[in-house]
Amino acid sequence: MQHAVYSLGGAGLIAAMAFLTLGAANVASENGISNETLKSPEAFKSISDKSKRSVALFNEMGKVITHPRCMNCHPKGDSPLQGMNMQKHEPPVVRGAGGMGAPAMRCSTCHSDENVTFMDSEGSVPGHAVWRLAPPEQAWVGKSLGEICRQLKDQKRSHMTLAELQKHNATDGLVGWGWNPGEGRTPVPGSQKMFGELTQAWIDTGAECPGG
Ligand code: HEC
Ligand code: HEC
Repeated sequence: MQHAVYSLGGAGLIAAMAFLTLGAANVASENGISNETLKSPEAFKSISDKSKRSVALFNEMGKVITHPRCMNCHPKGDSPLQGMNMQKHEPPVVRGAGGMGAPAMRCSTCHSDENVTFMDSEGSVPGHAVWRLAPPEQAWVGKSLGEICRQLKDQKRSHMTLAELQKHNATDGLVGWGWNPGEGRTPVPGSQKMFGELTQAWIDTGAECPGG
């Protein structure tokens, strides 16, 4: 709590506190446990056709990619989403320069560099260093898994090569937050290590995308 609050002036502090309380009502419905599991690349060894194996590996990665923890920060348009039901972020905020919020309502006004548990109710404000929205060309909400896959590989849209994408999935801090999303929030399935291994196996089998 301290992180988020000490840097604020009077009016901002009161506004932020009101929203923190609002937030608490939403998170209480999440159980903090992921019901899904994530298979390791070994589980796909039996698929002898290499491109079918590649598609199956990406479908498995899709359990992470399409999880609300990730989608909420890769929205369509200019506003983050929140919660398992991916509802509009309360209060309304916009991406602003670099996805870090409008000058008067920066993400960092409320999101610090770590998750901050509410003191007097269930839940937390999510946080990680440089908390910001993914850029518009990396939006995922409203797209099929096949479309997301082709977009990830499209060098005209993404600045990442496949090797960089693997490194991002395996080591990036905002990706890693998905497994450590703070009190009252359901983590994405598996582990970041396993997600990185699936990404590598997908690339090694030709980085094929699901149809549709
Ligand atoms: C005035 C405070 C405030 C500002 C400014 C703010 N947020 Fe939030 N945000 C919150 C609170 C509180 C929550 C937790 C709500 C809940 O879980 O019920 C939250 C939740 C989120 C979530 C949902 C996480 C999840 O998976 O459920 C995302 C994503 C998010 N914020 C992104 C951003 C981004 C990006 C910005 C800047 C463009 C931003 N927020 C600006 C207060 C704020
Ligand atoms: C707090 C917001 C936030 C969260 C949560 C988040 N991301 Fe991102 N994501 C970003 C930002 C910002 C970028 C752009 C990174 C860059 O340009 O270096 C990005 C980029 C990416 C990319 C590259 C996309 C492309 O087209 O090149 C991938 C892949 C990705 N994120 C995966 C994930 C996964 C998987 C999760 C959930 C486990 C996740 N992200 C959660 C903010 C977020």
